[in-house]
Amino acid sequence: MFPFDTHPFYAAALAFVAAFGLFSFPSLFFVTAPYGRHARPGWGPTIPARWGWVIMEAPSPIGFAIVFVLFAERWSAPQLLLAGMWLLHYVYRSFVFPFLMRGGDKGKPMLTVGLAVLFNCANGPMNAFGIVAMAPHLESNAWLADPRFFVGVAVFLAGWAINHHADHVLRNLRKPGETGYKIPHGGLYRFISCPNYFGEIVEWFGFALAAWTFPGLVFAFFTFANLFPRALDHHKWYRGKFDDYPKSRRAIVPFVL
Ligand SMILES: NC(=O)c1ccc[n+]([C@@H]2O[C@H](COP(=O)([O-])OP(=O)(O)OC[C@H]3O[C@@H](n4cnc5c(N)ncnc54)[C@H](OP(=O)(O)O)[C@@H]3O)[C@@H](O)[C@H]2O)c1
Repeated sequence: MFPFDTHPFYAAALAFVAAFGLFSFPSLFFVTAPYGRHARPGWGPTIPARWGWVIMEAPSPIGFAIVFVLFAERWSAPQLLLAGMWLLHYVYRSFVFPFLMRGGDKGKPMLTVGLAVLFNCANGPMNAFGIVAMAPHLESNAWLADPRFFVGVAVFLAGWAINHHADHVLRNLRKPGETGYKIPHGGLYRFISCPNYFGEIVEWFGFALAAWTFPGLVFAFFTFANLFPRALDHHKWYRGKFDDYPKSRRAIVPFVL
């Protein structure tokens, strides 16, 4: 199942995404990605955040769909369900979320957008290829009855719901035209500062379990490596900004951290 003797793009994409995650995790403890509340001068030209999100995320669902169609002659039910999960997340993130954002005209550095484009051009196609061409267990509908599949799907859906609810709460903190920050409440915000990141990490570990592929696991690791340090930064920022920030709230792991 290890892929380095197979399709060269697949092998290169896996190595790239894994290396990106391994590099990002320690680096992001020292340098906070310069967008949103952590935006600051010195990171080059910017584009409106809304369009930045469309440009950087769109390669993921488009690349996934192209590879999913081109590299399979027919699809099993597990393969189709996994594709549905990927597209459920990424069609929303690429083409809906950016147009619901409030404050989406703030600048986003083109550097971060460019890096994310490269990442998504590798990650979407490699995950589709992993599902249709590198995972014999997914070719049979028997995988539907495997606990890894149905537990993974349940975990994915739980993470997806947490992520969506958390982003919905944040969006509604601002009235149209506002760009400032307020303290979010409700749902998992009772326990942590970044339930959207927590939900996203849970989502992709659920996907990795359901797919049982290397690309799924590597992407779940990357998501953790990217969002865990950022959640610590957000939490520190909230505590510095609001004197009345809830003292018992943690950053990303309820009751722990
Ligand atoms: N898979 C991955 O590696 C990955 C990487 C990055 C993001 N994501 C996902 O993409 C989504 C957005 O990420 P993000 O980093 O932009 O999240 P974020 O920093 O929590 O911001 C999300 C949106 O809510 C606004 N917002 C945040 N806190 C607010 C507050 N206290 N008051 C008012 N508005 C607030 C932000 O405005 P501002 O932009 O003005 O701050 C932004 O529009 C999340 O669901 C995240 O999980 C995934």
